[in-house]
Amino acid sequence: MTDEPIAMAVLRGLRASPKALPAALLYDALGSALFEAITELPEYGLTRADLRMIERHAGDVVRALDGPLDVVELGPGGGRKAALFLRAVTARQPRTVFTAVDVSASALHECQRALEQLDGVEVRRVEATYLDGLRRAARVPDARRLVLFLGSNLSNFDRRDALGFLRDVRATLSPGDALLLATDLEKPAERLLPAYDDALGVTAAFNRNLLVRINRECGADFALADFAHEARWNAPERRIEMHLVARRACEVHLRGEVIRFAAGESIWTESSHRFRTDELRAWGDESGFGCAGQWTDAEWPFAHTLLLAR
Ligand code: AVJ
Repeated sequence: MTDEPIAMAVLRGLRASPKALPAALLYDALGSALFEAITELPEYGLTRADLRMIERHAGDVVRALDGPLDVVELGPGGGRKAALFLRAVTARQPRTVFTAVDVSASALHECQRALEQLDGVEVRRVEATYLDGLRRAARVPDARRLVLFLGSNLSNFDRRDALGFLRDVRATLSPGDALLLATDLEKPAERLLPAYDDALGVTAAFNRNLLVRINRECGADFALADFAHEARWNAPERRIEMHLVARRACEVHLRGEVIRFAAGESIWTESSHRFRTDELRAWGDESGFGCAGQWTDAEWPFAHTLLLAR
């Protein structure tokens, strides 16, 4: 997502065929709170796997890097993962600057509140998209930069864009700086789909809230009852897709335009790709990094890949 006004992005996405909206729009204040709730769902194993891995390996990550470290996290949400990770950093250095980059102001405040309690941590907030924020995050003199990109946030990118993104991240770094990349790995669709279509309907609310946001912020008139949440496994692309499917033919009005939906037509709202450990190492190599370590979780296949800027 760029910084264009959201009504422009929404109109462009709804005029397109197939209709699609940028996933970053899911994260208004309510969307961010619903995503935090998703991370607690029994079906959604990702966040627990990520936390287990941080608990086990944050010390190894820090030891693999020269210090002192300046830590930047892209999309930290409520800051739970960072709080755990920073323990390993503060065990080695007395003072750490942690910069949170997120598109959600409410998530940034949650994150700051969670982290400013930690001894020796100075929290900075940058409300921006990933690369913009990374470029704006002030450097700490004489420190190596460690960028955290956890929670499988990379999964929203198409594979081609993911490699481009890693190259763009690398371009902001100097040799010896690092990127810790946490990504969900391939697993059977029967295990994956319920994580995106949970029994409580929290993910459905997270997805449908996008229409509530568009009604509020763009003055549209989506009838919520007309749109159902759907999660699909796209096997050739190795990704989950979230869609909002029109239950019947309907019309929506937005900024003087009429958007028509056929019954069963969908708005594609998110892609969530799965990865292989070797493909992650290869992308690191192709984008100017060396792999300094890779760890996986057996309970819910998930990987932490530590990429060191060459
Ligand atoms: C934050 C992009 C990693 O893809 O699992 C959770 C977002 N969407 N449930 C994911 C999400 C539906 C999440 N990421």
